[in-house]
Amino acid sequence: MKPADDPSKDYKALVERGYDSCAAAYDEVRREETEQALTALIDRLGVGAVVLDVGCGGGVPVARTLAQRFAVTGVDISGKMISRARANVPSGTFIHGDIMSADFPASHFDAVVAFYSVFHLPREEHEELFTRIFQWLKPGGYLLATVAMANEPAYTENDFFGTTMYWSNYSVEEYEEILNSLGFDILEAIAIGHGYDESHETPEEHHPLIFAQKRVE
Ligand SMILES: C[S@@+](CC[C@H](N)C(=O)[O-])C[C@H]1O[C@@H](n2cnc3c(N)ncnc32)[C@H](O)[C@@H]1O
Repeated sequence: MKPADDPSKDYKALVERGYDSCAAAYDEVRREETEQALTALIDRLGVGAVVLDVGCGGGVPVARTLAQRFAVTGVDISGKMISRARANVPSGTFIHGDIMSADFPASHFDAVVAFYSVFHLPREEHEELFTRIFQWLKPGGYLLATVAMANEPAYTENDFFGTTMYWSNYSVEEYEEILNSLGFDILEAIAIGHGYDESHETPEEHHPLIFAQKRVE
């Protein structure tokens, strides 16, 4: 683990390059069924609901599961991941780019999901990201996002699927505070694992999965 605090470095470009280079390897093991983690959301959405997947990766399993019932748009900073998502989920709409540059109409989505992606953005952007998500959601719309257990300033590691990767996050309590202050009600917070199948030999991880709803004023 190495601090990622060099102002001359473009850490978003590092994330993009990293996922471009490991897209196939990541996708290979990112097979664990997420249906259970999605059930509470799926049960609350009507047929044809409009859903945004932030950092959708190759679209499997999350976007693919959601696209069986809903109209899914995915955004990802990695062009290689977006190509895979388009092939894996033909009914979805996939946009290549930084989620912080994405532009959607206000009150457009019934739900926004973000599995294992928020912590790849600099944490100084996280409140702004959730503010944008709040605006994109319809009143009463849902957010389902993995965050992080502990407060960790930005760092990189060199052994992520054979590439260097960047993470930056606050603690789950801090995320709950941010979401509350923006106007979300937290419905549930559970812990899920890393989402890889057992062929990927890595210690189990615990990622808080927050299920929240945009307050209706
Ligand atoms: C660990 S993968 C998770 C992929 C997928 N959500 C899943 O459940 O497997 C993180 C994804 O977030 C994407 N990502 C990272 N930073 C991003 C950003 N600023 N904007 C959009 N996507 C981003 C990465 O390219 C990568 O595909």
